Amino acid sequence: MPDCENVIRWGVVGCGQIAVDKSLPGLLSAKRAKLVAIADPLEPRCALTLDLAKQAGLKSVRSYADAAGLFANADVDSVYICLPTGQHAAAVSTAAESKKAILCEKPLGRSAAEVCRMIQAAKHAGVPLMTAYMSRFGDVFQEAKRLLAENRIGQVTFVSANFSYTCLVPYPPGKPGGWRWTDAEGGGPCLDIDVYLAFGIREMLDDRIARVGACQVNTIAPKDVPTHDTTMAWFQTAEGVPGTFVTTFSHNECVITFYGTEGRLDVHGCFSQKPGGRLECHAGNFHYIGDLSHWNRTCRRLMSLSTTRLRFRTFAGFSPSERARRLKTRFHTETPYVAVHFGDHVHLPDRNSHRPRGPRHAFTPANVSFE
Ligand SMILES: NC(=O)c1ccc[n+]([C@@H]2O[C@H](COP(=O)([O-])OP(=O)(O)OC[C@H]3O[C@@H](n4cnc5c(N)ncnc54)[C@H](O)[C@@H]3O)[C@@H](O)[C@H]2O)c1
Repeated sequence: MPDCENVIRWGVVGCGQIAVDKSLPGLLSAKRAKLVAIADPLEPRCALTLDLAKQAGLKSVRSYADAAGLFANADVDSVYICLPTGQHAAAVSTAAESKKAILCEKPLGRSAAEVCRMIQAAKHAGVPLMTAYMSRFGDVFQEAKRLLAENRIGQVTFVSANFSYTCLVPYPPGKPGGWRWTDAEGGGPCLDIDVYLAFGIREMLDDRIARVGACQVNTIAPKDVPTHDTTMAWFQTAEGVPGTFVTTFSHNECVITFYGTEGRLDVHGCFSQKPGGRLECHAGNFHYIGDLSHWNRTCRRLMSLSTTRLRFRTFAGFSPSERARRLKTRFHTETPYVAVHFGDHVHLPDRNSHRPRGPRHAFTPANVSFE
């Protein structure tokens, strides 16, 4: 049982850079989250994680060399899956079978079919499944969404986005994090970073991406590397807004520009792992420039969010199957606007107050087509 009946007991699966370097400080400081177990085959990563947990006052965190042991641990209520993308699907299925609530890193899977199977596994087991799109809870993201919802730049007429990072130096092929250069492991910028732009544009505009075409090329990747390093795509939303996006492993950039009939909004750094971002909006007499922070607060929000959502207060003293049954009623697999339930943690604009829009256009949704 948790020390405090209001606390969710977390197991972290994969102690790589996102789990430990970025999310762990948030997890360790979230009020209703407690780290109880970790899993990673790399001993130094486990040692580092245990050390950080100790510094935060946690002395009895269990450490496993693989995920199976962690999933079998009945003290773990919820798992945070931070494995290379190609391993998400199998881990989510096993976690679901073990009746764990699941927070899984982005992208959820490597294909729509794989993601559908993961959602089915969670539904079948009656456990919640949520993708860890932290950025959406960050101040830069929220503020951009607010400005667009307030119609500050008028009707949005075009979106231009570039989210890229230099991958070869921090994550060379064959080294830790080097799975990014392997298609089978979910590598390549299309899976690794396009997802940010796709969901970011979708949520900031409160719209869906209806058509998209893309091509992939290679610029700097070594010849024997089995993936591309650059993706270029065009899209059109269901509301008719056109745009382009670029993601590459060859340079650092993180900006989305929304052009409108009255002005433009530049959103810098909202997906970046750096701690802050910048918003710049100019439209007629309206000028807004804001330097906003988002990182640790965002992780803490996400962990508190999942934790609050699960509301374990009512679960103390119940058997594992009863806890799982109750979890099912407290958490949804569809999460985009789950944050509105936590007004004290996250302030989102009212989902129902739609900004005025231009004329609607009807488009036939199409799959991504690579040339
Ligand atoms: N939300 C974000 O901002 C963000 C940022 C970076 C990465 N990610 C996502 O997080 C995931 C992990 O990325 P990363 O950068 O931390 O990768 P990483 O390579 O740094 O970490 C992966 C870790 O998993 C461990 N691992 C591998 N197989 C395992 C197994 N069977 N059981 C337990 N541990 C195992 C590895 O030893 C490694 O420590 C990816 O899906 C990535 O797309 C999300």
